[in-house]
Amino acid sequence: MNEDSNGRFDRLYADRTSGLRTSVTRELAASRRGPGMVSLAGGSPEMGAFVEDALRRMGSSVVRESATAFQYAPTEGTSAARGVVVEAMAAAGTPSRPEDVLVTNGGQQGLDLMGRVFLNEGDAVLVEAPTYYGALDAFAAYRPRVLGVPVDDEGMDIAEAREVLEAARRTGTRVKFVYTIPNFQNPTGVTMTLGRRRELLELAREYDLPILEDDAYAMLRYGGEPVPSLSALEQQETGGPERAAYLGTFSKIFSPGVRLGWVHAHPEILRRMRLAKQGADLGSSNLSQTVAVEFFRSGKWREHVRRLARIYGERRDAMLDSLAEFMPEGVSWTRPEGGFFVWVTLPEGVDASAMLPEAVGRGVAYVPGEDFYADGFGGKNHLRLSFSFAEPRLIWRGVRILASVVRDRMEIEGIVGRELRERAHARG
Ligand SMILES: Cc1ncc(COP(=O)(O)O)c(C=O)c1O
Repeated sequence: MNEDSNGRFDRLYADRTSGLRTSVTRELAASRRGPGMVSLAGGSPEMGAFVEDALRRMGSSVVRESATAFQYAPTEGTSAARGVVVEAMAAAGTPSRPEDVLVTNGGQQGLDLMGRVFLNEGDAVLVEAPTYYGALDAFAAYRPRVLGVPVDDEGMDIAEAREVLEAARRTGTRVKFVYTIPNFQNPTGVTMTLGRRRELLELAREYDLPILEDDAYAMLRYGGEPVPSLSALEQQETGGPERAAYLGTFSKIFSPGVRLGWVHAHPEILRRMRLAKQGADLGSSNLSQTVAVEFFRSGKWREHVRRLARIYGERRDAMLDSLAEFMPEGVSWTRPEGGFFVWVTLPEGVDASAMLPEAVGRGVAYVPGEDFYADGFGGKNHLRLSFSFAEPRLIWRGVRILASVVRDRMEIEGIVGRELRERAHARG
């Protein structure tokens, strides 16, 4: 029985809870952990001995600061934590000021606050399609219309975005903001080119829209050249944040367990977000902020991030090499310059959601593409692989198993035979 139907309190729940999403397949992928299982599903970061060691050493200093660390923190975050945010943003190439920063409970809360301060029911938000499902989940509570814009190997298709905005204008749909992940996008791994970033800023100016730039993977680059953030590009002209709000997180470069992220935005947006956050949780954990500040103050964090980038770079290479080695013809994938994810395209007609139980049964998990589309209609023949958590040896094993599952599916669907026939036909 569907847990949500004919429930005991159905007539009492707020309408907004009916918009909250769940995903059976995502849960299936996440639930199977343990020996023999290679999870290429979740985006959990590698912590490594370094963080554990640092945290152990930190213990005593946190106790020393217990008079404040165990107290409430200001809603906007401690000034020390906001100072660390400014340092982290500078290291990733985006200027900022502590007074323009709101410390949040992970980047995830920044997504929720954006929805909370901008979206009325029925308003629209423009997103990349596919996009991070956590953002779709966060926005869903405010019951918006989600307008998806396709992503190609240069990032969001800006010409298409313009058409979507035009159509919305014609039909009287109020678009409230654009959400984008320009670096190593979750789930495609694609990085938006400088040209597209400039075009997006121009488009947002034309339609007078704020942009939420989610830069969760900012510092995790393993190849290619850094591209200035939308926020940095805008600030070159305006001297401070205007319409480009920037979302960051300590989850990927330090620890997801401290639940710390931030939003850097125009003072008016930030003021509303601070009020919304005050109502939600009064403020982020002072203890977490103390721990994070200690870690970043030690100065060793740059070395830690370099080490992470080396580890993840090796894992990405293991994934790309094993895909090339094992995947049957007709399967393609992206080649990310950073972040955690590779986006795999299966031949038309191979359904990644339907294939998941078989893959999990044989010992490998992934997230089906459908989860990254708001309407659940896109992405059927896609899947997201994460290389962040498994060691190269396991990545090779997982991809080998996955490739055999894909090949079997292609055979069942008659795709392998058809392809061979077509190739033979092409050769004459
Ligand atoms: C693109 C993106 N944004 C935001 C988040 C939120 O992360 P957290 O709340 O741990 O900062 C994630 C986590 O995976 C992510 O991939």
